[in-house]
Amino acid sequence: MTGKELKAKYINFFLSKNHMQISGKSLIPENDPTVLFTTAGMHPLVPFIIGEPHPAGRRLVNYQKCIRTGDIDAVGDLSHLTFFEMLGNWSLGDYFKREAIEYSFEFLTGEKWLGFSADNLYVTVFKGDELVPPDEESAKIWMSLGIPAERIFFLPRADNWWGPAGMTGPCGPDTEMFIDTGKAACSQECKPGCGCGKYFEIWNDVFMQYNKKADGSYEPLGRKTVDTGMGVERTIAMLQHKKSVYETELFLPLIRILEQISGKLYGQDEDADHSLRIIADHVRAAAFILGDENGVTPSNLGQGYILRRLLRRSIRHGRKLALHDKFLHAACEQVIAIFQDQYPELAKNKKSILSEVDLEEERFSQTLQKGEHEFEKLLPNLLKNPQKIIPGRVAFRLYDTYGFPLEITEELASEHGMSVDRESFQAAFEKHQELSKQGADKTFKGGLADHTEMTKRLHTATHLLHKALILVLGDHVKQKGSNITNERLRFDFSHPEKMTAEQIKRVEEIVNEQIKKDLPVKMEMMPLEDALKDGAIALFGEKYEKNVKVYAAGDFSKEVCGGPHVEHTGLLGKFKISKEQSSSAGVRRIRAVLLDT
Ligand code: ALA
Repeated sequence: MTGKELKAKYINFFLSKNHMQISGKSLIPENDPTVLFTTAGMHPLVPFIIGEPHPAGRRLVNYQKCIRTGDIDAVGDLSHLTFFEMLGNWSLGDYFKREAIEYSFEFLTGEKWLGFSADNLYVTVFKGDELVPPDEESAKIWMSLGIPAERIFFLPRADNWWGPAGMTGPCGPDTEMFIDTGKAACSQECKPGCGCGKYFEIWNDVFMQYNKKADGSYEPLGRKTVDTGMGVERTIAMLQHKKSVYETELFLPLIRILEQISGKLYGQDEDADHSLRIIADHVRAAAFILGDENGVTPSNLGQGYILRRLLRRSIRHGRKLALHDKFLHAACEQVIAIFQDQYPELAKNKKSILSEVDLEEERFSQTLQKGEHEFEKLLPNLLKNPQKIIPGRVAFRLYDTYGFPLEITEELASEHGMSVDRESFQAAFEKHQELSKQGADKTFKGGLADHTEMTKRLHTATHLLHKALILVLGDHVKQKGSNITNERLRFDFSHPEKMTAEQIKRVEEIVNEQIKKDLPVKMEMMPLEDALKDGAIALFGEKYEKNVKVYAAGDFSKEVCGGPHVEHTGLLGKFKISKEQSSSAGVRRIRAVLLDT
């Protein structure tokens, strides 16, 4: 049975039990700043779980794309995934434990449905603690269906309890269903929940029967709900008798592409397999994030940071497989091919998914080369440290000067039997931020908080971009905001409509022409009136001192600004606009990067 067939069966099963199918939602939660991604099918349903009536009724079923970032470090094993598809059925104050467990049992073991042998089915239920009694009720229901007591395990809160998301709210025990893979037990204590891979968890029925109150106590809920989640990838791996989720049709074509590009065959070498699995998982997650209805692009913040980390970690593992050519593009194309009929947003956004991964791969390969080279240079000295700990300030310097991510320094360190002192890295990071803040307070607003070489280059590029936009679009273009990290610039400006592809191209050309001319960037102090008379751009609404600094790039651009800037435009590299989008009414936002030439 394929993943697609499993989804259809699940939906049909619950339709036959009078459920209504509802659509899955975006991976990026709307109106919920507390989490970065949709982590479960219940997530978009929280308002209905806590009491709002759902327009489709009290029995619902769907499949939902999910991302769990908490598991990123476990990814690479046989079952953990960053992106996965979850099937779910809900009872919003309708049926409760008996029907929910009976439905699960019938769907798992019924000949017409999944046909798993009941003898291979193991379940866990909540053990109880000082606050809430054990879930004997669920155990009894399982026994009444023929699951013997020795295959029912009572586990603590860490395993068998769900919610609440906040400090208070609906929550309750859950019962999880596992398939015995037939693998030898890792120890005498091995049981469902052990994590060695013998028992594969495929489904979880959550029974929201309590309300957690602010004083920490639990009161029984009048309106109880059921929330279930079945992992598509894990379930079909079990149905197809595969050792891992990666050997199913959801991943295999992707693994094949990676094999072709790397010349490594899956299943021959555990280290290579581990990297292949990480790449396959991360590329798939990245393609879904980029292709989402509310898609984001790589950045140093929030969802964009997770996306960047997924792509960059894939590239790192690609390098472990001696993959030095670009491969993300081909891998993402394969992900799109596998899923586009079920997730049309992937086909719709194919072009932008591919161009974003190209750009990120280009940026990161440059960062990596420089950072790794630096790391190698430092290595002999680092290895002399008997404690095998890399001081945080060294890791911070790699990060600050070369944009080399801490996680990558940690990976490299562990390859040499070392670790990084995270605490002192954090201290160096915070000290730097404090210094930058003080520095920024002394300069004009619009000056840079961070003075690395890259941010200076991007700052100069921002001036060139600003002027080029005025030349291409007109005098109505006014800066509305600017933000520079050591990876990219972001520039908001007034303009009533989307820029056309030609306009974007023309702006890029103009900026790149000024870079080629290698214009000197000069600073002069002068009274604001003189600067304005001279045609310098000054931000409307800003307060300036009497004398202002004016930065001029040749005679192309002149702007009142706190600086700092590079000394001549030839240092910028190649300017590229990575995104043009709406920022707010009448304001457009451009993101752009500088590529080394
Ligand atoms: N919300 C429950 C889970 O994700 C079903 O396991």
